[in-house]
Amino acid sequence: MDNNLKLFQRSAKYLWTDPHISKEMLKAHLDPSHDGASRKQETIKKTVDWIDKNLPEKVKILDLGCGPGLYTSLLDERGHRVSGYDINPFSIHYAMKEALKTNSAINYRCLDYLKEDFGTAFDAIIMIYCDFGALIPSEQKLLLKKIKRALQPGGRFIFDVFGEGLNNIKEEHRQWSYETEEDFWGKRPRFELEESKHFKKEKVWGDRNIILEEDRTPKEYITWDQYYSEEEIKDFLRENEFTVIDLNNKLIPGDPEGGDFVRFIVAQFN
Ligand SMILES: C[S@@+](CC[C@H](N)C(=O)[O-])C[C@H]1O[C@@H](n2cnc3c(N)ncnc32)[C@H](O)[C@@H]1O
Repeated sequence: MDNNLKLFQRSAKYLWTDPHISKEMLKAHLDPSHDGASRKQETIKKTVDWIDKNLPEKVKILDLGCGPGLYTSLLDERGHRVSGYDINPFSIHYAMKEALKTNSAINYRCLDYLKEDFGTAFDAIIMIYCDFGALIPSEQKLLLKKIKRALQPGGRFIFDVFGEGLNNIKEEHRQWSYETEEDFWGKRPRFELEESKHFKKEKVWGDRNIILEEDRTPKEYITWDQYYSEEEIKDFLRENEFTVIDLNNKLIPGDPEGGDFVRFIVAQFN
């Protein structure tokens, strides 16, 4: 384990598949009182309205990192043919159970979208909660290649990224604590490091958590959040053969950053 968090360093373990954290993650997705893991229901509905408006008709949609299916279920209700893929088995299991209750034909799969095949002929691929900017550049490149392969000609990649407003809600810090209560990061008494580092030139925040429990191997989790100006994300997509056909900065109600917090984008594959 490195003492200094290095730009785009990846941890050996995945936050999304740790047995304790992935269960906690599902709880966080389903908690309607906050915007963590998934957004509040009001914002999800507003986002689905906007996605729907940006689709020509009833189409074949893939949701990458669908979590417990909060978007897929609404898109299915609107008559689209929907697939949802996620790496967290607890979230996919929950989504499948919900689909059974409503007799819906959503195709859920538990998989790693960076490693496994997606299938083809999708009219739209969505990826919501700024997950694209959570990928490091080599992963973004790989994922965009896979998205292009999976989309029909003229198909749409619909996603969101952080804007510069992210800087107003984050603060650099590095702090050790001793925790005894069960929470998101663990069950047993443990030392925890919480670190947040701003790489200003590269426009990215790195967050690292290290968990030290007695008689266990230390665990380290690192996540990244890249943020973009409107022009930067447009240029990036242009370089990757996509044209931005809609950009909406106003979907988060009461966006504290006056529209610079999250940018929602519809990009058409040329
Ligand atoms: C921040 S959550 C957003 C979930 C959902 N899009 C929403 O907004 O409700 C990110 C999701 O991506 C999933 N995920 C992360 N990396 C993944 C990967 N490599 N392959 C598949 N799913 C992944 C996680 O398990 C998690 O459910």
